[in-house]
Amino acid sequence: MIPLMICSRRTLLQTSVGCAALAKSAHALNFGAPDWPAPGDTLSPVDQPKETLRTDAIQAGAPPMLVCPRKPDGQLRKSLFSQLLLLRLSPESAGPAAGQLRAFTAICSHAGCVVSSWIPGENFFLCPCHGSEYDPARDGAVVGGPAPAPLPHIPLKDVSGIIVIAGHFSARPGGRTGRTD
Ligand code: FES
Repeated sequence: MIPLMICSRRTLLQTSVGCAALAKSAHALNFGAPDWPAPGDTLSPVDQPKETLRTDAIQAGAPPMLVCPRKPDGQLRKSLFSQLLLLRLSPESAGPAAGQLRAFTAICSHAGCVVSSWIPGENFFLCPCHGSEYDPARDGAVVGGPAPAPLPHIPLKDVSGIIVIAGHFSARPGGRTGRTD
């Protein structure tokens, strides 16, 4: 399983250049019509789409992974708008969700790039396009950069050890500037 690109403050600039190229190619891809995750979907790593993720496979405090939802009929939701950042918060993290599994849209609320990086230590998501940072321990709150809104999150539940989507996004995902969704 490949986690997100790991960034540090010292390597941020260099990494951002690489990530900007990655984000550009993401823009070149067809985002497709939004195909939102829905209750009952299971989750698969984007690089191992045949795997169904179990709750015990996600280590607390580990970097997030990029995952895509699978409908109950077995079909993957392939739109980039469907992709999620999945992690289990560290038990030491602030807030009532400490130690819990959380999932957030992977689409930045600024201009719609894929939030593809992670800042260890601070434990923030990082969007490489313009440097927006989000705190998963505070419901995806913006903690840096130009993003105008938190990263929407979606509830999860455990069904016989399997991670299952339990509801809908807290807000409509997508970029607010530069591109429309
Ligand atoms: S698109 Fe993410 S910071 Fe601009």
